[in-house]
Amino acid sequence: MNYPQAVQADTGPATGFPVETYRQDFPILEQTVRDMPLVYLDNAATAQKPRQVIEVLDDYYRSYNSNIHRGVHTLSELATDAYETARKKIQRFINAESLQEVIFVRGTTEGINLVAQSYGRSRLGAGDEIIVSTMEHHSNIVPWQLLCEQTGAVLKVIPINDAGELDMDEYKNLLNERTRIVAIVHISNALGTINPIAEITGQAHAAGAVVVIDGAQAAPHTKLDMAALDCDFYTFSGHKLFGPTGIGVLYGKQALLEDMPPYHGGGDMIKMVTFEKTLYNDLPYKFEAGTPYIAGVIGLGAAVDYVSDVDLDRIHDYEHGLLRYAAEAAATVPGLRLIGTAADKASILSFVVDGIHPHDLGTILDHDGIAIRTGHHCAMPVMERFGIPATARASFAFYNTTEEVDKLVAGIDKAKNIFK
Ligand code: ALA
Repeated sequence: MNYPQAVQADTGPATGFPVETYRQDFPILEQTVRDMPLVYLDNAATAQKPRQVIEVLDDYYRSYNSNIHRGVHTLSELATDAYETARKKIQRFINAESLQEVIFVRGTTEGINLVAQSYGRSRLGAGDEIIVSTMEHHSNIVPWQLLCEQTGAVLKVIPINDAGELDMDEYKNLLNERTRIVAIVHISNALGTINPIAEITGQAHAAGAVVVIDGAQAAPHTKLDMAALDCDFYTFSGHKLFGPTGIGVLYGKQALLEDMPPYHGGGDMIKMVTFEKTLYNDLPYKFEAGTPYIAGVIGLGAAVDYVSDVDLDRIHDYEHGLLRYAAEAAATVPGLRLIGTAADKASILSFVVDGIHPHDLGTILDHDGIAIRTGHHCAMPVMERFGIPATARASFAFYNTTEEVDKLVAGIDKAKNIFK
């Protein structure tokens, strides 16, 4: 690529991060797509899995597949032990105070729906207010709209500025004695904006509201610390964190979870059932009805071990350099406009290119083996805010390289020539 000299000289990921070594942990990255080496830049949709996770899943199904919490036989004990060991790993990973605060769910979407239906439906009434923001994923909008329909509560929306940052003054104005819930994304999937969660939480608590954080995009990019964030609920998905799809975590403060009714009824979430009355199980099992995704939980535990070994602080620094490199390279492409230029931003390069629909761009890039996502990214209000139907989005993981960014920019140039 012919970038300006300053870009070549001053940018690029921090040296010393052994990206090529880590890439070898990800078998899928070795393949070609359409006879070109795969350039996987769709990590915000789902991240790839290291062999350390794949092997743990394989071992579970080959060696000790069995149901948990039920059997007295050896395989069931092994499976139960692996499942509960994963819970301990995740408790440490997010710095939660107790194991009771770590609930396994299908993913971020289920985590938010659980809070809306269990906490929200049992406590909110007509005229109560829920605050979300313009940059939310649909999974942090629709569950609250459903709750509003059910309870008569009202949804309020924090606007965002042209850079894609929350209007914190307007947030303060929206908070009042009727605010019951503040539901905010930690890192925006469409813009990359990193929101000031501890500050948002402090202000919500001062107004007497609880805070629910959508951490789907944050978990793979930043160290999570529930004690420091002090939010009431935090949820994330395993598959964006290099673990399996269909598994995720809902963290909730124990005192709140204790007081909440179950979300799903069924096996394992009870102590005793009669037709007159059912006694619910203790936390965390009260919220884990039915046979869970056992392999998924064990695989997520392995994923958490893996990223902890790589070290999220190093991941953060490396990706920060990569994003800066990508943003500066993108700035050299005439007609390319970044959507989302927040001062505090992570791993997402959303953009539009004059004269090319994002879907066409995505298709052309795919011919060169480059995978990006195009569309509204399940964040239609963000598109509306910027007056566009869709963006092209490259999203980076710690196994991506500056060479891959160069290929992306070359692919965009090629698409521009085709559409000239
Ligand atoms: N929410 C995921 C994304 O941003 C699927 O792509």
